[in-house]
Amino acid sequence: MKKRPRSRSVLFLTSNRHKFAEAQTILKPFNIKLIQKPAKGIEIQSDSVEEVARVCAKDAYGRFCVPLLVEDSGLFIGALNGFPGAYSAAIYNQVGCEGILRLLAQERRRFARFVCALAYADSRGVRVFKGIVSGKIASKIHKGAGFGYDPIFIPKGHTKPFSAAPETKAKLSHRARAFKAFGRFLAKQAKHDTR
Ligand code: IMP
Repeated sequence: MKKRPRSRSVLFLTSNRHKFAEAQTILKPFNIKLIQKPAKGIEIQSDSVEEVARVCAKDAYGRFCVPLLVEDSGLFIGALNGFPGAYSAAIYNQVGCEGILRLLAQERRRFARFVCALAYADSRGVRVFKGIVSGKIASKIHKGAGFGYDPIFIPKGHTKPFSAAPETKAKLSHRARAFKAFGRFLAKQAKHDTR
């Protein structure tokens, strides 16, 4: 008789409560229990969010020895050649959404995308799941729900920024896409392991 895949617990290394809450909601249908660990892993200097997440997850697994997730994400703005990208957190802390709007004040090209690199480490190694959402930078700040650059990012095909449409964000954000890919992967692996 086939066994039902059991619920799995996975650590999520993040001190960002918004990221954790979003991730928990996305993974609920996959029967994955996320446990928040606000530990700061090693953070290398790199333009690549994949590399930052991968190196941090590998190092953290070496220390904690339990299955865990590390996410690195960023906002890549076309007219700024991908800036702030992997440096999004530092730039947000220094100049916020206002600073980004100032940089783009005379700019008609508003294309941008959010990228999420989610690294999962367990005894089999590290795997990275990537989620991308394209859109544009708004002309003004729309305060509301969410965090970070949510008040100025309007996803493609929509008129409101993420901060004004949390249900849209939950469906199609970079984080939703990466975590869903991870959820599918783990469900498949669990099915395989119970055979
Ligand atoms: P990190 O992944 O902790 O390095 O942070 C990436 C930074 O990108 C965050 O501090 C936010 O400023 C921004 N960011 C990442 N994901 C989102 C999002 O879903 N909404 C808004 N801003 C985000």
